[in-house]
Amino acid sequence: MRQSTNLIIENALQELKAAGVESSGYEIRLLLEEALGVEASSLVYGTIDFSEDEEKQFAKFLEKRKRHIPTDKILGRRGFYKYDFKVSEDVLTPRPDTEILVEAAIEKIKQEGKEEGKILELGVGSGCIICSVLAEFPALNGVGIDISAKALDVAKENAKRLGVDGRVDFRLGDWFAKDFLSSAGAGYDVLLSNPPYIKSKEIDTLDAEVKNYDPMIALDGGPDGLESYFQIAKLAPSLVKNGGYVFLEVGEDQAREVGQIFNKAGFITEEIKKDFSLIERCVILKK
Ligand SMILES: C[S@@+](CC[C@H](N)C(=O)[O-])C[C@H]1O[C@@H](n2cnc3c(N)ncnc32)[C@H](O)[C@@H]1O
Repeated sequence: MRQSTNLIIENALQELKAAGVESSGYEIRLLLEEALGVEASSLVYGTIDFSEDEEKQFAKFLEKRKRHIPTDKILGRRGFYKYDFKVSEDVLTPRPDTEILVEAAIEKIKQEGKEEGKILELGVGSGCIICSVLAEFPALNGVGIDISAKALDVAKENAKRLGVDGRVDFRLGDWFAKDFLSSAGAGYDVLLSNPPYIKSKEIDTLDAEVKNYDPMIALDGGPDGLESYFQIAKLAPSLVKNGGYVFLEVGEDQAREVGQIFNKAGFITEEIKKDFSLIERCVILKK
């Protein structure tokens, strides 16, 4: 049956609002496009043929959204930097703020002529950071470590999608484990990390979409939110070459303190970059 796209979207928004779920026309459009099997953004506002099956599929998506499942996790993918990444409940959904770290690292690798070097990411999740950086430099190699085997499976798929799977070695590891350094290697030109940084007591205040559908291990940074930074700062001097760089994503109001933690470990703060909301989000340090 032919139906107005605007009306479908408007009705869906109202249905979600009545169920206590805030959404946007853009999100609904993504779900509608998926139900119709059309390419993202090819949905022309006007009228569409909505078959019974497509309508049922769209209704299923809305039911999931009503349970606060985020749109990306319903779709199973999320646009990040220049690519579409597979996502699942086993990985943190890539955030636009993290693109700041990716851009900063790419810029520095170019500036410093480290295009044929070796990079390390601690806490790869979906692999959005390490894969985006590797895709930029065909002779760059990387190691990506995560405590979650299921996250590593997603990261491996994303590496294949971006064609960087031959240049990245994903390893299961816990940066709090005693033998971590023996499995992590050394001599890296660049260390990248977006570790868990939410204070444990603040987890409960997060949106249901985040606290119920991003893995807890990707969120909880311990009582002060800084546990992983302290630990990574202990390891970083053994991992990074002299003259090498560390790029860290940090939570709101953590940049200065995280910088100091790494300064004490022998790194010099080069720059702190702000995100699109003008929050200090990425700390760049040099060994
Ligand atoms: C905030 S997520 C970042 C994921 C991805 N890099 C991104 O930016 O979207 C943090 C990641 O660190 C991993 N992680 C948490 N604690 C860890 C630990 N002790 N050792 C290794 N990885 C850990 C989590 O499994 C999660 O994938």
